[in-house]
Amino acid sequence: MAIDLRSDTVTKPSQAMRAAMADAEVGDDERDGDPTTRRLEERVASLLGKEASLFFPSGTMANQAAVWVHSERGTEVLADVDAHIVHSEIAGIAALSGAQVLAVNPTNTVMSAADLRCTFRPRSRYYPAPSLVCVENTHNGAGGRIATLDELRAVRMAAAEQGLPVHMDGARLWNASVATGISLAEISEHADTVMVAFSKGLGAPVGAAVAGTRAQIERAWTARKLFGGAMRQSGIVAAAALYGVDHNIGRLEEDHENARTIARIVGDAGGATVVPPQTNIVMVDLPPGINSATVAARAREDDIWLSEWTSTRIRMVTHLDASAEDCRHAAETLRRILSNA
Ligand SMILES: Cc1ncc(COP(=O)(O)O)c(C=O)c1O
Repeated sequence: MAIDLRSDTVTKPSQAMRAAMADAEVGDDERDGDPTTRRLEERVASLLGKEASLFFPSGTMANQAAVWVHSERGTEVLADVDAHIVHSEIAGIAALSGAQVLAVNPTNTVMSAADLRCTFRPRSRYYPAPSLVCVENTHNGAGGRIATLDELRAVRMAAAEQGLPVHMDGARLWNASVATGISLAEISEHADTVMVAFSKGLGAPVGAAVAGTRAQIERAWTARKLFGGAMRQSGIVAAAALYGVDHNIGRLEEDHENARTIARIVGDAGGATVVPPQTNIVMVDLPPGINSATVAARAREDDIWLSEWTSTRIRMVTHLDASAEDCRHAAETLRRILSNA
C-alpha cells in the first residue's frame, strides 16, 4: 500500500470518527443553529480563549472570511510572501474582499516585526491604506515552523503601531501548542482573529473555524453566507471535528517524532539539506542535478508519495494515517534515491 506523505490533509476519518458522525445530533444550522456545530464552536472559542467561533467548510473559506471581516475594499493586507493566504488561496483577498496583498519579504525564514515595519508605506492619500496583518502559525512554507510568543507579540505591536488588527492562520495551531506545551489560548492572545483547521492533523474530513470577538464572529457569519458557505445539518461534519479535538490533539507529538525521524534518516543524503522540523512538516532541499519532479516520480515507483514544493524542494508531512514504520521506510527510500542520484 502507498505511503502518502504529500500532506496531513490526506487522512481519512477513522471508524470511531465515522461512528461519532453517524450519531451526531443535528438541526438546521442556518435557521436555528445546529446543536453539534454549536458545541464545536463553543469548544473552539473556549480552547482559543476568544468570545466566539464559527464553523466553516474549509480553512481557505475561514481565512478569506476573516480578511473580509477586517478589510474594507480598496485597502491592503500585509502577509508573508510565502503565506498560504497569499500563495495558495488563488487571489481570494482581491476577488472576495476587494483588497490587495502587500507581500512582506522575510529577512530570515518568516516575516518578522522588523520586516513588517520596513514594508508599511508612509500614510498618504495616494497610497492604499493598510487594513490587516496576517501571520501563519505553524508556517507551512517554512517547514511547519512555530512562531514564538515573543515573535507574535512583536508582530502584534508593529501592527498596533499602525492601528491594524492581526489575523492568525492557525491551520496547524494544534501542532504549535503540542510541540511547545503553550496553550492554544496563550498563543491566540496575540491575534484578534484565529483560524484553526480540523482536516489536517486532527483527521476530520473537512472543516475549520474562526475565533474572535462576538462582533467579529457575527460579521464572519455574514461573510460565510456571502461566500455560499452557510450550512444546514452541519453537525454531521462538526461531530468529526469534535472527535478530532477530543481524541487527536495529544497524539500530534507522534507525528512530530516521526518528522524528526525522517529528517535524521534523510540527513544530507546525496548533498541534500533538510530543514530541521519543529512539528510535522519536513522540507528537503535537493542537491544540484536532480529536481523535485524526478525525486517524486522515483519515490512513487516505490509507493512513497511526496509533494513537489518547488522545483528544488520536496515536502513530506507526517500524520495519523502514517505509522512510525511507514515514515522510517519512506525516509530510507528517499535516502536511497538521493544517494544514487
Ligand atoms: C497554512 C494553511 N492555511 C490554510 C489552509 C487551507 O485549509 P483548507 O484546505 O481546509 O482550505 C491550509 C491547507 O493546507 C494550510 O496549510
